[in-house]
Amino acid sequence: MPTASATVTEEFLTDDIGFEEISMLPIDHPGAHDPDYRARRNFIAGLAKRYRKDPRHVIPNVDYTPQETAIWRHVYDQLEETQQRRACSLYLESKGRLGISRDRIPQLGELDQKLRAISNFRVAPIEGLVETRAFLSWLGKRTMLCTQYLRHHSRPDYTPEPDIVHEIIGHIPNFTNPDFADFSQTIGRGAVIASDKQLEQLGRLYWFTVEFGLVEEGGEVKAFGAGLLSSYSELEHAFSDEVERRKFNLEEVVNTAYNYSDMQPILFVIPSYAYLKEVTNKFISRFWKNGDQEVAPIGVPQGVW
Ligand SMILES: [Fe+2]
Repeated sequence: MPTASATVTEEFLTDDIGFEEISMLPIDHPGAHDPDYRARRNFIAGLAKRYRKDPRHVIPNVDYTPQETAIWRHVYDQLEETQQRRACSLYLESKGRLGISRDRIPQLGELDQKLRAISNFRVAPIEGLVETRAFLSWLGKRTMLCTQYLRHHSRPDYTPEPDIVHEIIGHIPNFTNPDFADFSQTIGRGAVIASDKQLEQLGRLYWFTVEFGLVEEGGEVKAFGAGLLSSYSELEHAFSDEVERRKFNLEEVVNTAYNYSDMQPILFVIPSYAYLKEVTNKFISRFWKNGDQEVAPIGVPQGVW
């Protein structure tokens, strides 16, 4: 759920743990009371901050620990069999093409180089949650913001925020698909000019596709959303009788509210990525007719481009 904003409230831990904490953890975060985890997460988040200040914008490598690699392998192994049955073929092919395996946590920098060559899409490190319009604005530049730290080891099946497991296992493979990459860029361009109401609609479109999308493939329904592909329980749940799988209708999708902390009761099935790209283009083109004016992407450091 990278589009949710991280509002700091009194519920966030603010005690002194001996360094300047880049992003506060909500008090119910599994790692909130683990100073070693918070220090490690903070160190990795600091690398992302340094990336933006670096005039060369070289994506930093992270020397992942055995404990972090064990979390990666746990999630990878848990998902493997279900993904083979439930994930769309493009995703499964792409995982192999990008060299994503259980052996090690891939570095963002190497995935960035591969994506650039395949679909002219990029990734960039980020230290935490970003406000919706800013996050989507980067997609408009064909760039996905990705965290590099991992979830807490006490709950390897759960993360309340995007982590590198969610980014790589869930999101990154989809960007090798040119139609999906173009669709993502279109959403991002739309976010730059959207009114607040339109931005909310774009957030719903993003949620029901990029995060929880299903696609029809050879007469079967398959998963392509990152929230499904990176969570064993979500992926199993998506194909259970508890979920209503509806034919994708953009007007319905952008007017359907969701709760990001619950299992999803309704999911939408697109007929193809090309269709999704086409209807999204038409939807965004209406924004201009409303008389909105283009503004500079909020939160995008121009020096990066
Ligand atoms: Fe996500």
